[in-house]
Amino acid sequence: MTDTPSTTAPKKLFIKTYGCQMNVYDSERMAEALGAKGYVTTEVAEEADMVLLNTCHIREKAAEKVYSDLGRLRPLKAANPDLKIGVAGCVAQAEGEEILRRMPLVDLVVGPQSYHRLPEMVEAKGRVIDTDFPEEDKFDHLPERKALRGPTAFLTVQEGCDKFCAFCVVPYTRGAEVSRPASRLLAEARDLVSRGVREITLLGQNVNGYHGEGPSDLGGGTWGLGRLIRELAAIDGVERLRYTTSHPNDMDDDLIAAHAEVPQLMPYLHLPVQSGSDRILKAMNRKHTAEQYLRLIERIRAARPDILLTSDFIVAFPGETDADFEDTMNLIRAVGYGAAFSFKYSARPGTPAAEKPELPAEVADARLHTLQALILEQQRAAQAAMVGREVGVLYEKAGRLPGQMVGKSDHLHAVHVYDPTGKVGELVRVRIAASAPNSLGGERIRA
Ligand code: 5AD
Ligand code: SF4
Repeated sequence: MTDTPSTTAPKKLFIKTYGCQMNVYDSERMAEALGAKGYVTTEVAEEADMVLLNTCHIREKAAEKVYSDLGRLRPLKAANPDLKIGVAGCVAQAEGEEILRRMPLVDLVVGPQSYHRLPEMVEAKGRVIDTDFPEEDKFDHLPERKALRGPTAFLTVQEGCDKFCAFCVVPYTRGAEVSRPASRLLAEARDLVSRGVREITLLGQNVNGYHGEGPSDLGGGTWGLGRLIRELAAIDGVERLRYTTSHPNDMDDDLIAAHAEVPQLMPYLHLPVQSGSDRILKAMNRKHTAEQYLRLIERIRAARPDILLTSDFIVAFPGETDADFEDTMNLIRAVGYGAAFSFKYSARPGTPAAEKPELPAEVADARLHTLQALILEQQRAAQAAMVGREVGVLYEKAGRLPGQMVGKSDHLHAVHVYDPTGKVGELVRVRIAASAPNSLGGERIRA
């Protein structure tokens, strides 16, 4: 007798990812973990056997969106009572019990440190919740990564944060800083390269605070991010490296030197400052002044003069005066950013700043508008300055026009290139010829 092949169709998994790149990475890993249980991913929520929302708690708007999106799933659950609905990520961590109470349609809640337990959880009867910070490393319990979609990949090297900025929920939702051992990261990078990846972005809530255990065959000890970058760059096939997100106080000499010495480390750095006012930086518990940040930028630019800098800003933090805001505008003028994310302050339950009175919404709106106009001006200027220059571009996909390829430049600008024989995954030299609002156009240079 021969075994009869199973005729059950694979179960379909729909994942919606909110928030940061760490969640993008986590969603991929959760899909792989559930793949071992026979799930394949789908882009269509209506055909799914399981819907998983991988959520973000950073600002109130992002967190509330989860509840409205869950509400929108009611008709699907009514049409298919077997549909499993899961909430993962930082809202799950922070508000797990409340989600179960407010949203009877939710079957499982899993925090960001527990998603390796997801395969058991989907098989459990009844509603389940796991928001522990377990001792074991979740990455040790996840299956090997298999299929990959393109030439770029994320690699989580560090998680959590011990900085406790007064406005931020991350230290509570993601927990204390933990760095993965370097041997695992080198192995994971080799594996990524063997499957076609050429660019790796190292991820961590405080990535430049990385302090992982060095492999014993490479001398052991504790490695900082600079050392890790040097060793990753030595892997054959790792052509580009980036890292995000960093705290100014963790930019050590070795990491700055890596920007000068490691050709694979791209000339791009996201270094959030949040505010340019010393009074507000202090109230935010950022533990540095505007002047110290500017001096740091000088040192980074001395190491890598063409580096493109980006930042995050919060406007209307409690107590922010017009003069404080003007200090932020002046800092932006002094640095000259390539781009930035900016947000109105959002009071988050459980954070120290949430105890303080908020500024009127009109003040926050006006400041955000003013700041974004300046950033946009700088973004345009930075793009215009690329015209005429030769840059590397890694093709990520075909463009909308026939014969067109799209990829990212060394400075992380999106670049369109007319290149009918171009292939995804090719790293080519391009002369930038034009700047559009959100991308550049250029011509491939053939040697
Ligand atoms: N309100 C507004 N913005 C916030 N951020 C973090 N917490 C808050 C908050 N409570 C912003 C910071 C951070 C980015 C990821 O999100 O600028 O760098
Ligand atoms: Fe949040 Fe970043 Fe501050 Fe950590 S360093 S508390 S993640 S803003």
